[in-house]
Amino acid sequence: MKRVLVATGGGDCPGLNAVIRAVVKRAAQEKDWEVIGSIQSFDGILKEPTEIKILDDAAVKGIHYQGGTIIGTTTKGGPFAWPVKNSDGTWGSADRSDEMIRKLQYLGVDAVISIGGDGSQKISQQLYEKGLNIIGVPKTIDNDLMATDFTFGYQTAVQVCTEAVDKLKTTAASHNRIFILEAMGRDAGWIALSAAIAGGAEACLIPEIPYDINQVVKKLDSRFLKGKGFGIIVIAEGAMPIDGEALAEESVEVGNPNLKLSGAADRLLMELKQAGVEADIRTTVLGHLQRGGIPMAYDRILATQFGVKAFEMVLEKKFGHMVASRHPDIVAVPLLDAIGKQNLVSPTSNMIQTAKGVGICFGD
Ligand code: F6P
Repeated sequence: MKRVLVATGGGDCPGLNAVIRAVVKRAAQEKDWEVIGSIQSFDGILKEPTEIKILDDAAVKGIHYQGGTIIGTTTKGGPFAWPVKNSDGTWGSADRSDEMIRKLQYLGVDAVISIGGDGSQKISQQLYEKGLNIIGVPKTIDNDLMATDFTFGYQTAVQVCTEAVDKLKTTAASHNRIFILEAMGRDAGWIALSAAIAGGAEACLIPEIPYDINQVVKKLDSRFLKGKGFGIIVIAEGAMPIDGEALAEESVEVGNPNLKLSGAADRLLMELKQAGVEADIRTTVLGHLQRGGIPMAYDRILATQFGVKAFEMVLEKKFGHMVASRHPDIVAVPLLDAIGKQNLVSPTSNMIQTAKGVGICFGD
């Protein structure tokens, strides 16, 4: 019997379970393959005793529309930076990648499918360079991975954000208020931009286009006549004014170096008030509502396509590659093409042109 190990790493994302289910169902069509899952990304392999789960038909039954991941995930540590407590109580890290590869050999793992975003796929590439038979599957609601049209989970996040715009519009119109809706997107403004177009927001502020507050005020003024009117601004958590930076708190989580972005909406409210905007302004921070819950149909389909293709790439021995969507095909691309740089919104792209064409202000 041959064994393929599946791991889900980084922040969770709607569609993870649909990928796992697709890998298992496709593998079941080959007589000699078994699928196992490592609990909490690669931590399950590194822990003593090992934490793995047999992923058979029963384990994945009906999970394609469940949010989260049935094998857990983590944003902390990993095989190359395992958190270790020093004798003085501070935390350092250890490279346990060789040990992990040995354990995988001991467990009879022939190939690994690593489902994750930018950080996870960088780890996949490093493991591949050490000789591990590994395939990547691109995941993130932020849609910021290169070499694929879309990552799964992104469309669900856009839908959640769009529904929030729809809901805020009715309350904003009733009260003649301005609402600032903060969406996720630390480096890439895809979610904010897509929801702003779909929901018909007045302004959209994204990390790729630092904003001039005066331009935003001008747009809002045009929406109010004698105090009557309303406005919706969708802002990505990583957005910044032209003379400022993205707002972030230091990470206090052991093994997680990622800064926690927060405060973009509150800062914008303050800036608008300082610039003399008289209307009432309220803020809504969507946060993890964009990541949790049921994946929409598009993401279930994409995740299923990715899962089937990932297992077929194992059969073809296309290691060191990542599954990618290149409409209308699902293809294999070198992991290196996906991790070199991020997929950011280009200020000259059609999406920005379209948004500007319907009057959305980016503060530029
Ligand atoms: O990368 C996906 C993402 O949801 C970002 O949009 C966000 O900044 C980050 O993860 C939040 O991470 P955490 O759940 O660890 O706070």
